Amino acid sequence: MSSFPSAAVLGLCSLIFAILVAPTFYFEMPRIAWIGLGSIGEAISKNLAQHAALEEPVLVWNRTVEKAERLAAAANGKMEAAPSLADAVSRADIVCLCLADDRAVGEVVDGAAAEAPVSGTLFVDLSTVHPDTSQAQADKLEKLGATYIACPVFGGVALAIQRQITIVLAGPSDAIDRFEPFTKDVICKDTIKLANQPLREAGMLKLVGNFVRFSAIEVLCEASVLSEKIGLPEETLAKFVEAMVPGPSAGQLATLHAGEYNNLATSLAPISMALKENSYLNDLAGRSGAKLRTLDTVTAHAERVNEMRGPDAKLLAIYGSIREENGLPFDKN
Ligand SMILES: NC(=O)c1ccc[n+]([C@@H]2O[C@H](COP(=O)([O-])OP(=O)(O)OC[C@H]3O[C@@H](n4cnc5c(N)ncnc54)[C@H](OP(=O)(O)O)[C@@H]3O)[C@@H](O)[C@H]2O)c1
Repeated sequence: MSSFPSAAVLGLCSLIFAILVAPTFYFEMPRIAWIGLGSIGEAISKNLAQHAALEEPVLVWNRTVEKAERLAAAANGKMEAAPSLADAVSRADIVCLCLADDRAVGEVVDGAAAEAPVSGTLFVDLSTVHPDTSQAQADKLEKLGATYIACPVFGGVALAIQRQITIVLAGPSDAIDRFEPFTKDVICKDTIKLANQPLREAGMLKLVGNFVRFSAIEVLCEASVLSEKIGLPEETLAKFVEAMVPGPSAGQLATLHAGEYNNLATSLAPISMALKENSYLNDLAGRSGAKLRTLDTVTAHAERVNEMRGPDAKLLAIYGSIREENGLPFDKN
């Protein structure tokens, strides 16, 4: 008998939840569209579709439409290929962009704004673009009642597949709050939040961060070439790197020693991406009056690789260019 009142209270609570809370929760769940299914876009969007708590499939659109259709067909209902950019944007509350470069981002944002209603839409840009480009998209979209956050990605495709990338989140804090539930443990291991800070800082951080990464590779390649020239065995250098240099250097050195640095099948970043980022950095450095000799060196080696092996060659192929400069053949094996 004494359990009757509490059962009634429980029932009443469930009813209130069903009437008031559940529909609110349902209607507030955003619909997400993903634009750009290149190497890293595909990896991140698959994780979003697979691991985010979404009510509806992620809408995917790509300039080459077959890619979106292929992905959606293999996604067990967790992705839906949109027939056009306008369709994807007009049905979404949040539109993620993961595009090759500034031109692609500008064209897609202009196309979306021209062909679909975007008032209230949140654009999340995971592409690597010049900081001025991010600001220009944000300004343009703000005039249309939409919001833009800059979310550049640290880490390559292999890390993206394993959800081990780090994502910068820059823009108004309420906009970041809208996207944050779809970041940590869904598509990435960590986020760096730059809420309400100047939007340009996201791009600046991405470029400066990658400058650190590229420079570390440059030094590793030079150290390896020097060791070969002076007769220090590969295994001995490897022992030092494994013991003393944290991060990906030991794996990268093993790739150099194995002669796999120009293997196009690896998931390492292509030289075209390094050249794009170095050109933005050169622009920022030039405008600020900074002189960066290491950046000049990395750029010269990357340009040589691009000339010899084309834009798809991998970043680690600067090793071949450094070998050449030192009288060794570009290819090791
Ligand atoms: N790959 C990495 O390791 C990595 C790491 C961190 C950050 N990022 C950044 O993430 C972004 C995407 O990288 P990704 O490796 O996925 O590049 P990707 O493989 O070259 O793919 C580029 C994507 O952009 C699309 N695209 C290019 N021009 C376009 C245009 N004018 N209009 C519409 N779509 C266009 C391509 O469509 P199509 O398929 O039709 O060509 C493709 O979906 C880049 O900004 C890159 O710098 C990449």
